[in-house]
Amino acid sequence: MEDLKYLKLAIKLSRKGLGFTEPNPMVGAVVVKNGKILSTGYHKKFGDIHAERMALDKIDETGTTLYISLEPCCHFGKTPPCTDIIIKKKVKKVVIASPDPNPIVEGKGIKILKANGIEVLYGQLDDLNRDYNSHYFTNIEKKRPYVCLRAGVSIDGKLTDKNRDSKWMTNKQLRDISNELRSEFSAIMTGSKTVIEDNPKLTIKNDKWKDKKLARIILDSKNSLKKETNLNIFNEQEQYPTYFFTSNLIPEVAPNDISSSNAKNSPYHFYVNNSSYGLNLNEILEVLYEKNISSILVEGGGKLINSFLQEKLFDEVILFTDKKIIGGKESVELFNYGTEISQPVNFSSTNIIEFDSGYIFRGKK
Ligand SMILES: NC(=O)c1ccc[n+]([C@@H]2O[C@H](COP(=O)([O-])OP(=O)(O)OC[C@H]3O[C@@H](n4cnc5c(N)ncnc54)[C@H](OP(=O)(O)O)[C@@H]3O)[C@@H](O)[C@H]2O)c1
Repeated sequence: MEDLKYLKLAIKLSRKGLGFTEPNPMVGAVVVKNGKILSTGYHKKFGDIHAERMALDKIDETGTTLYISLEPCCHFGKTPPCTDIIIKKKVKKVVIASPDPNPIVEGKGIKILKANGIEVLYGQLDDLNRDYNSHYFTNIEKKRPYVCLRAGVSIDGKLTDKNRDSKWMTNKQLRDISNELRSEFSAIMTGSKTVIEDNPKLTIKNDKWKDKKLARIILDSKNSLKKETNLNIFNEQEQYPTYFFTSNLIPEVAPNDISSSNAKNSPYHFYVNNSSYGLNLNEILEVLYEKNISSILVEGGGKLINSFLQEKLFDEVILFTDKKIIGGKESVELFNYGTEISQPVNFSSTNIIEFDSGYIFRGKK
């Protein structure tokens, strides 16, 4: 019971790093002796000190129990191995929620601790920790970024009205929550049509996230989004670098060719193959994974969301649904390609929150 209580606290602490640790996981740590918490720590942001080191650095006591949400690292990366400090501080027992599947750790951290006479328990609350860190576990296990499809829709599943206006599809309360959701991800992705029709900024409004770097990814097969058009996606490059993907059937523009359109404003311009739905999404995810983009929030439009659905390349769906009906054939529909009734998209976990004016549905595959 005691172990569960402190492990839960370690997992709760890990959430303080939400939005800042990727491509690393969120990790929390608690040091306990004789039923008293001596110190705590969490991984604040990518490159910073690890949770267990942060917690152990603050104390001199030996014979403690260390609770951590993830197996400690045992290699030199941006910081020294955490197993070293655990051994140095003569920790007696280590309780871990999840073993780390990263090939550079993968049980080696646990082995080193045991070889040094430290009692190690692991596996309790593994599901909870994996759920919170689903971006990290997907990266390691599927070798691609975590993909979440997000849309603001009417109750009849429309993304826009007949004039292709989607600005007020959902009310302000849902729009604000949806904007804040971006903070949980490494990148936002959208299709060229949405960029042309809505001229979105694809940024986070709340000042609290001013130190967070968020990439913007635009699928622009024909390399048609010109800087001269004053699109918002060309602004604020420092905090929100924009990646462009273009078909490799289009003549390539040198990345430093300042006379070209996108290239001048973004050093991140990639050329990929086409597939039946547009640019090849598998290839795009491969490039982004290589660039350490751990998670992507796909913010439509309809065509792009449908491509991910058809390619079965997503891990989560989040719908912001306003209690209104739009109707009509000309309006853009979410999921208009569909699948067969015998092969529907099923979710392993779902969560629905109701507000006065709408719902938020969150379903993980
Ligand atoms: N309510 C909401 O939450 C919401 C969110 C976003 C957008 N919207 C609305 O949706 C409308 C646009 O939706 P849309 O369906 O027409 O366009 P879209 O999905 O924004 O963009 C589609 C375009 O992206 C490019 N593309 C490249 N590779 C692709 C791939 N693999 N799959 C799909 N597209 C790919 C293609 O253009 P190229 O050939 O030029 O590359 C394609 O025509 C806008 O009116 C916008 O207001 C609503």
